[in-house]
Amino acid sequence: MRLSCRIRSPMADTKPRVFSGIQPTGRKTLGNYSGGFRQYVQTQEAGDGFFCIVDLHSITVDYDPAELRRSTLDLAALLFATGLDADRSTVFCQSHVTAHAEAAWLLAAVTSYGQLGRMTQFKEKAEGKEFISAGLFTYPVLMAGDILLYQTDLVPIGDDQRQHLELARDVAERFNYRFGEMFRVPGGQFPEIGGRIMDLQEPTNKMSTTMSTEQGAVYIADPPDVVRKKFKTAVTDSEREIRYAPNEKPGVSNLLEIMSVATGESIEALEQRFTGAGYGDLKDAVGESVVA
Ligand code: TRP
Repeated sequence: MRLSCRIRSPMADTKPRVFSGIQPTGRKTLGNYSGGFRQYVQTQEAGDGFFCIVDLHSITVDYDPAELRRSTLDLAALLFATGLDADRSTVFCQSHVTAHAEAAWLLAAVTSYGQLGRMTQFKEKAEGKEFISAGLFTYPVLMAGDILLYQTDLVPIGDDQRQHLELARDVAERFNYRFGEMFRVPGGQFPEIGGRIMDLQEPTNKMSTTMSTEQGAVYIADPPDVVRKKFKTAVTDSEREIRYAPNEKPGVSNLLEIMSVATGESIEALEQRFTGAGYGDLKDAVGESVVA
């Protein structure tokens, strides 16, 4: 196995190696920004960052080749626009580095079939499909390869990827136990707030590139007026009180969380600020903060 990244220079060791992968599919939303892109930029400041556009993952479900090529470039543009800096971080496309596919095969030999079958994302994506590719099933092995190839210390990811990271850790440990210390066992970094931005129209569902309606999702590429309008029509509740209580008041809580992400202010500070204000005021303020 050729693993050129195994030996990292002592200089590089002073900073944690950061790796994350982003799929070049769907129109990226405020949820992707809040739980993903924003974290990449933060970790870029502290670490030695590798950010990979994982086109090989995107071919595990039905896709159009021309469209995938275009969205790969679009995603690169978006990553740079949201703050990744090519002078400090390595931003690259997965299929350009053939070691990813090689690693996936080699690591498949130390991956448990049973564990793959328990992946909730696989079950969700496979549900109701007429054709389920073997690639969709082994998707987490490719992801483990991505991470382990670079001797990654830290993986900034969304909450929905916890199970996949756990599998990558298990694979690394099994490999190390069987063949000697080869891989670093990576840790995750999950967003403290803003990891689960909800749909503006159905605030009990996650804002999603695929499941949300046009009105329910705010897209990173939406023009300012569209963003404002989407917040104006956001679903709240029949009370009048602005406070953070995700179970009782999912809509209002989501708005507070979004504003906290956008402004950097704590949710408590925002609750204070909006004491006595109406929902209309809150929606306008959140919309403006996101536009800014
Ligand atoms: N599965 C991840 C997602 O859908 C994408 C991904 C692929 C990834 N390889 C990775 C994330 C490696 C972190 C590290 O979000």
